[in-house]
Amino acid sequence: MWDERYSTDDYVYGTEPNAFLAEQLAWLPAGGRILTLAEGEGRNAVFLAEQGYQVTGLDASAVGLRKAAQLAKQRGVNVRLSVTDLAEADLGKACWDGVVSIFAHLPPDLRCSVHRRVVYALKPGGVLLLEAYTPAQLGRGTGGPPEAAMMMTAAILRKELSGLEFLLLRECEREIIEGHGHTGTGAVVQAIARKP
Ligand SMILES: C[S@@+](CC[C@H](N)C(=O)[O-])C[C@H]1O[C@@H](n2cnc3c(N)ncnc32)[C@H](O)[C@@H]1O
Repeated sequence: MWDERYSTDDYVYGTEPNAFLAEQLAWLPAGGRILTLAEGEGRNAVFLAEQGYQVTGLDASAVGLRKAAQLAKQRGVNVRLSVTDLAEADLGKACWDGVVSIFAHLPPDLRCSVHRRVVYALKPGGVLLLEAYTPAQLGRGTGGPPEAAMMMTAAILRKELSGLEFLLLRECEREIIEGHGHTGTGAVVQAIARKP
């Protein structure tokens, strides 16, 4: 489904970074190794590389990551990209200074398993930065998956990411104009959480 969605010349979520990531970037240890989950067409990985991070982006869509590689080339940065299904991904142990998860909507069992692996994979002092739609987004028609089960809430994140210390955890509404995939006011949960 995602390969089909990305099979267009334009970038579905644009080529500019997610606004929450750009705003909260300073939480990610400077120059560190960052893993981006469900990277899509590369806008966030390329932005992070431009800011001096060493970035690895994972996504199941080969078409999305081909566009990500193209974007990195255009912008003159290096990004490691891997076509990977998160259901099968070994995210490593205590090896990332940061993990970035932007609109990485997955079925709940898989999401929970990925979140447990993220906690394990962060270095002590490493930071997770996450934004996702909440079920309050349903029916708005401005982006996000069609099912509440694929969305996240602050309570879900607190539970699935236990072991991390939350520096910011909030549900809010914000204007999300990011490509033609995200087109207006959205209900989101935002988190910054650090591994002690
Ligand atoms: C809403 S898009 C977000 C893309 C990107 N994070 C952004 O904000 O521009 C969701 C992404 O999740 C990826 N995805 C969905 N299921 C996945 C899985 N099991 N493993 C890896 N990636 C997956 C899709 O290919 C898609 O690129």
